Amino acid sequence: MRILYLIFSFVLFFSFSLSAESGSGKDIFDRYCTVCHSPGMASMFGAPAAQDLSAWNERKKLAYDRAVEKNSIVADKPKDWNSINELLETAKSGTDKGMPPKGTCSDCTDENLVSVIEFMSSSE
Ligand code: HEC
Repeated sequence: MRILYLIFSFVLFFSFSLSAESGSGKDIFDRYCTVCHSPGMASMFGAPAAQDLSAWNERKKLAYDRAVEKNSIVADKPKDWNSINELLETAKSGTDKGMPPKGTCSDCTDENLVSVIEFMSSSE
């Protein structure tokens, strides 16, 4: 019985650790980000809530200004791409106002994080 339990735990562990890279933005959001970014919880944490378009538009505006200041605007990409690219930077590093590095999804790639940011800042 004990060995079965061990095998079961391993399978569970690996299916969870592999799933981060394969999920859609919404899947990853549901696993890692919803705790703080769900509409019900976000105001408590001071985080922008998923699907709160005005909160995200404000974040995008600030991010775009930061990118201009850092001289990291990619000229042949649209404004929205540049805003999200800068939001990716803060999502990866975390912030001192409570956003943990990579939003606790340590297996997430840049592409994973961008797809979550796109999901949270859209009306889906
Ligand atoms: C422990 C709570 C917590 C979790 C979990 C969390 N966040 Fe956050 N997040 C925050 C808070 C609080 C802020 C606002 C921080 C600030 O204003 O500096 C924030 C802000 C952000 C921002 C905006 C950054 C900016 O420059 O304005 C992005 C993007 C973001 N989170 C992405 C994510 C993603 C993606 C995940 C999941 C993979 C995630 N967060 C998980 C708490 C969390």
